[in-house]
Amino acid sequence: MSRTWRLGVAGLGTVGTGLLTFLAEHPRFAPAGGQAVVTGVSARSRTRPRAFDISALPWFDDPVALAQSDEIDVFVELIGGSDGPAKAAVEAALNAGKPVITANKALIAEHGRELAELAESKGAPLLFEAAVMGGVPAVKMVREAFVGDDITSISGILNGTCNYILTEMESGGRAFAEVLAEAQRLGYAEADPTMDVGGFDAAHKITILAALAFGCAPNYAAAEIEGIEQVELIDIQMARDLGYRIKLVASAEQAAEGVLVRVHPTLAPLSHPLAQAGGALNALFIEGPRVGRIFVQGPGAGAGPTAAAVAADIADVMTAAVRPVFQAPAGSLKPFDPINPSKMMGRAYLRFLVKDEPGVIAAVSETLAEAGVSIESFLQKPVENAGGVPIVLTTHATAESVLAAAVERIAGLPAVLDKPRLLRIARI
Ligand SMILES: NC(=O)c1ccc[n+]([C@@H]2O[C@H](COP(=O)([O-])OP(=O)(O)OC[C@H]3O[C@@H](n4cnc5c(N)ncnc54)[C@H](OP(=O)(O)O)[C@@H]3O)[C@@H](O)[C@H]2O)c1
Repeated sequence: MSRTWRLGVAGLGTVGTGLLTFLAEHPRFAPAGGQAVVTGVSARSRTRPRAFDISALPWFDDPVALAQSDEIDVFVELIGGSDGPAKAAVEAALNAGKPVITANKALIAEHGRELAELAESKGAPLLFEAAVMGGVPAVKMVREAFVGDDITSISGILNGTCNYILTEMESGGRAFAEVLAEAQRLGYAEADPTMDVGGFDAAHKITILAALAFGCAPNYAAAEIEGIEQVELIDIQMARDLGYRIKLVASAEQAAEGVLVRVHPTLAPLSHPLAQAGGALNALFIEGPRVGRIFVQGPGAGAGPTAAAVAADIADVMTAAVRPVFQAPAGSLKPFDPINPSKMMGRAYLRFLVKDEPGVIAAVSETLAEAGVSIESFLQKPVENAGGVPIVLTTHATAESVLAAAVERIAGLPAVLDKPRLLRIARI
């Protein structure tokens, strides 16, 4: 029997109007032979100009009232933010037993477990395909298609704004602040760019993927986060001379002791697929013992791709193709035990600004050798107005705690003029 699914859409910005446009252009969007119809919308301002004309749609001042309304069967939350009206409305819809679809990574990363428990106790689906990698079906892939493998690691580029900024810095030889200001003018970066450039947005996304992949509850507080604000042009250029490109990489690894989730600028060899993913692209590696290594890339944001991901969730609700919110029912999710990263082994890029005098390079290499850190490559290049001589080296794999201690000792040498810069090199 053909059924009509009445949708309430809260949040009518980039994604919300993208979804309304998609549904208007696909009036027969009917994956289960039913029909999806928007019967209520909500945002802050009823009158502001939008990319979609909402004058014919029933308006709700309060997204919570929309979520609870008898006029809707499915609630679509496209407001954003980990708390506030988005969370209140999602909880209201779930409490009313209504399926919820959201693009809100902050909400799922920070409150995923409690929302999953609520959703499952009410028998209401909670879906969030659009929350990670926009148009790339990363959530479905990790939650559903990989259950036959034991994923060991996931890593990739999950923030298009950072990827755009780093790409522009390299191609135009321009500093971070200049490129960020231009990205804001062009609408590629928010007026407050902290969530993006600080690495927090990517951390929300990798927290969600880690939970889906490893069958644990999301634990955003355990994520180690470093953004791209400190990436200097000199590092981009020196890395390139050494055959690398700097990317903001988000990664999650499962080991016997627990899970490590981190986001930090990372050097990837120029031929590496992550180094090749330029502009605003997102890219992801998923690795498991049976399937091996899978790589996907695509648009991580934008009205069209994100609305397509929301529509895919609507289709899942219409076809009742619903799984537990995370990989397993909320009650049986494993604890997310963070690993102490100091034991992790990895290669690194180090830059020191030193006095232009004899013996300095020997002192740096001796300090590293004494600590047991072996040097892989070395680069010294005169840079105008640097206030000293920058020397750059890459190391062979070393325990992070050993490397950190050696770098601290080098920072204390009298010939070292500035705080050393340490960037990790991709392990994949
Ligand atoms: N943009 C993307 O490409 C993208 C990609 C993936 C995921 N997402 C996620 O999708 C969600 C929406 O993002 P967006 O880019 O569409 O955001 P946006 O353009 O800023 O739109 C946000 C919408 O929420 C409404 N809103 C804000 N505060 C509200 C409140 N207190 N009560 C009711 N409505 C309120 C706004 O109303 P007004 O319009 O009246 O101000 C606006 O319509 C976020 O969770 C975001 O992380 C976005």
